[in-house]
Amino acid sequence: MKIVLGPASQQLGEKIAQLLNAETVPVAFKTFPDGESYIRLEGKVQNEEAFIVQTTSPPQDPKLIQLAFIADAAKRNGAKKVTAIVPYLAYARQDKAFLPGEAISIETIARMLKAAGIDSLITVNVHQEKVLTKFPFPAKSVSAISLLAEYFKSKGYVEAFALAPDKGAMHIAEQAKKILGGECGYLEKQRDRYTGQISVEKKTFDVKGKTAIVFDDIISTGGTIVAASRVLKELGAEKVYAACVHPLLIGDAEKRILEAGVEEIVGTDSVPSHVSKVSIAPLLSKEIWEHKSG
Ligand code: R5P
Repeated sequence: MKIVLGPASQQLGEKIAQLLNAETVPVAFKTFPDGESYIRLEGKVQNEEAFIVQTTSPPQDPKLIQLAFIADAAKRNGAKKVTAIVPYLAYARQDKAFLPGEAISIETIARMLKAAGIDSLITVNVHQEKVLTKFPFPAKSVSAISLLAEYFKSKGYVEAFALAPDKGAMHIAEQAKKILGGECGYLEKQRDRYTGQISVEKKTFDVKGKTAIVFDDIISTGGTIVAASRVLKELGAEKVYAACVHPLLIGDAEKRILEAGVEEIVGTDSVPSHVSKVSIAPLLSKEIWEHKSG
């Protein structure tokens, strides 16, 4: 087995390789003056199972192209199987045509990756798991929510209220509740498909004087967390924290969230950032160990 260090996830790839005691294959990369990507494997993969670790957080398109080129290079250089370890899977939220005439982007990406030589894929907290059933190769999503909840538990926030900002994220809040031991609940969230504006329906939770943690898969613009934390504050929560697997934190998202009264944002190294306080390397190394053949 070889762990191929995709340019977008070099540190995570190194950590995974260390945990597995596996050899790494560095990848040389550059961008040509006209914007095209170049990659070259700096190690052998012949007759090996190659696990390419490459997240596809913004800028998504060049990272996806790098992933496709690395897969192609691995196959051309004799890898017997290529598995993509893609912690943040770009375009996964465009899993259906929400408005007439839209592309189903994630299905196109999956076909592109297949054509490049990828035989299977492992991702982390994909937005909707059912999208993976449409992939032309085996694809699986694993959850990092327990690791995030453990982080808060280790800081003493036992029995904190775990809030899902929408109904679709309730399974996430339930996973966190198992570790934290408190209560959990969800909000009804609406997003305007044209403006992106978020609104949440008022609900009542017993959070008065308590610590509450909003758990989500992604923090992008921060609108969801801001709306959720406002509800929690109105209901009297003493402290509000935000936890997410993929801290994209676009633009002034972090500032907006902190200004809304959130004490701390905690993310994972699925997307490397200064809020990536939890590593998903143990989760992914275990998954790779179980996934590898023989
Ligand atoms: C969508 O339903 C996701 O689970 C996240 O809630 C969403 O992507 C977060 O986006 P934003 O930070 O822009 O509100």
